[in-house]
Amino acid sequence: MLNEKVAALCNEQINKEFYSAYLYLDIANYYADQGLDGFANWYTIQAQEERDHAMLFLQYLQNNGEKVTLEAIAKPDKEFSCHRCALEVGYEHEQYVTSLINTIYEAAYAVKDFRTMQFLDWFVKEQGEEEKNADDMLKKYDLYGSDPKGLYSLNSELAARVYTAPSLTL
Ligand SMILES: [Fe+2]
Repeated sequence: MLNEKVAALCNEQINKEFYSAYLYLDIANYYADQGLDGFANWYTIQAQEERDHAMLFLQYLQNNGEKVTLEAIAKPDKEFSCHRCALEVGYEHEQYVTSLINTIYEAAYAVKDFRTMQFLDWFVKEQGEEEKNADDMLKKYDLYGSDPKGLYSLNSELAARVYTAPSLTL
């Protein structure tokens, strides 16, 4: 059994990860509506990754004999008023998720829960990658997105992204 606070935070994280998937599907829908199918593909795959994260937290709790409680997933409430705005939402959201992972890590560290810390190490690294990916999207958009030919090329590049399962297995 895990520490009560650590288990509660891990359980909450399941919901946060599913919300992340919802938010990224919303962003994908926005880009699909704008005719940017490559951007939509990139965020649809991002949504799949978030579902994987949710399932990893769920599996981790179950592996440790903890009961899982699924709560309602909030409606995505962000407005996307421009192509760049949706990318900004993605970047800010990843920074927020990093803070959530850090909060769970702090709780595990406080009670010397080395098992949970070891589990979370993968997520600490993953968040570094997620923030970099989101920042790279903004940089690429700023370099190429304002020109129609550049935007077309960037959209084609993002259309080529394929889903890969997470490297962490439990
Ligand atoms: Fe995630």
